[in-house]
Amino acid sequence: MQKGDEVILTVESLAGEGKTIARQDGMVYFVENAIPGDTVRARVWKLQKKYTEARAVEILAPSSLRVQPRCKHFGTCGGCKWQNLAYESQLQFKHRQVVDAFTRVGGFENPDIQPVLGCEDQYFYRNKMEFTFSEYRWLTDEEMKREEEIGKEIALGLHIPQRWDKVLNLEECWLQSEMSARIVNTVREICKVWNLSVYSSHTESGYLRHLVIREGKRTGEVMVNLVTTTDWPEAMQNMSSLLVKHFPEITTIVNNITSRRSMVAFGEQEKVYYGPGFITEKIGEYTFRVSANSFFQTNTLQAERLYNVACNLAGLQPNDVVYDLYSGTGTIAIYLSHAVERVIGIEVVESAIIDAEQNAELNRISNCYFLQGDLKDRLTKNSAWLQDHPRPSIIVVDPPRSGIHARVIDQIIKLLPERIVYVSCNPATQARDARLLADRGYVLHVVQPVDMFPHTDHIETVAFFTRA
Ligand SMILES: C[S@@+](CC[C@H](N)C(=O)[O-])C[C@H]1O[C@@H](n2cnc3c(N)ncnc32)[C@H](O)[C@@H]1O
Repeated sequence: MQKGDEVILTVESLAGEGKTIARQDGMVYFVENAIPGDTVRARVWKLQKKYTEARAVEILAPSSLRVQPRCKHFGTCGGCKWQNLAYESQLQFKHRQVVDAFTRVGGFENPDIQPVLGCEDQYFYRNKMEFTFSEYRWLTDEEMKREEEIGKEIALGLHIPQRWDKVLNLEECWLQSEMSARIVNTVREICKVWNLSVYSSHTESGYLRHLVIREGKRTGEVMVNLVTTTDWPEAMQNMSSLLVKHFPEITTIVNNITSRRSMVAFGEQEKVYYGPGFITEKIGEYTFRVSANSFFQTNTLQAERLYNVACNLAGLQPNDVVYDLYSGTGTIAIYLSHAVERVIGIEVVESAIIDAEQNAELNRISNCYFLQGDLKDRLTKNSAWLQDHPRPSIIVVDPPRSGIHARVIDQIIKLLPERIVYVSCNPATQARDARLLADRGYVLHVVQPVDMFPHTDHIETVAFFTRA
């Protein structure tokens, strides 16, 4: 077989990054542009020793799981790769992904993996979106024919799959709200009319970098954050006046300024041009202050379900002492504080600790303590604080995708909590860590997956352990 050859394949299941898996004649194929159940004519574009990558160029027999995608950008945009797959099937595939992780990676026999808690709102579920400016827009095959006419226009939108240098000019988007897409289109038009330049990492020049929109789904508050390379008050003042006139729903406008080369929507300096400079959002009965650069769970509705799952599994008692490790802006700590004696949150990012303290104050909570530092050190050499607090009866962990550092697992075990609640956005690393806990005296009872990101292959899970 060679690059460019075509094969007829029947797709079996989903793989990561929006790809699918098919098998034929002892060969494993990762197929793009298809869903399980499709029979496709696929063109080979990459040959590896153990697998082949191919792209479906024709659907010969469509899968019964296909649905009509809503978004006109579906297929080109990197945002929602599974919009053409029935939501029930998405949940089943996510469930399988968790089962596979706990059996294959974790080595658990028949683990109790509950059905995935699906998201009621499968569209417009995100409270935050980051859009990127680009000097040139990414052109679809159809648009290539009109390249002369449109190719030179600036783009504002999302990256196309696996290409951090290509930006799709987004005209509609079903992830945040109808208004958010209108703000994107209006900002782009203003920038075009004013002939504002776009930052290029090649030349390291240009003004516009990102547009970040945050919406309090429960409060209706809206933040527009324009990320630029330099401080240009006149341009920002004019932009703010126009935006507020067009969108009275906007409650605050900020400008993050960064001269760094890395393409992250985060500024070293922040200036507020309208409103208070932050929005508030509610999870359960608690209100959280969310500034432009704060971490906050992106799906408000499902974050509440996730935290309820964590609280219910933990079986909180009034005399419980909880350590919330990887506590971010303190949302989990605050959410469960009313039911326990005290909560100690530990987090490495300083601004997140400041947010957590402010959030505790905002909600008049006095039994949460937040400590800044890397957990590896906070639980070992820099652990004098342990003298001031009782040992935990419950440890809640919510680490990043890489999971828990092995040294942190050692320390968790030494602290001897009765119960461990492990929240994760990566079932593979969670299953790896679950095995370490199980081998050292903790019994895995149940794993509850929660779907925070419909139409993507991401899945959040809560695992519950007790000391044997
Ligand atoms: C998935 S977020 C969880 C945030 C929070 N629990 C929530 O629900 O909003 C993971 C957090 O772990 C923090 N973190 C990453 N590595 C860390 C480390 N080595 N020590 C302490 N915190 C860390 C990150 O800054 C981030 O806030």
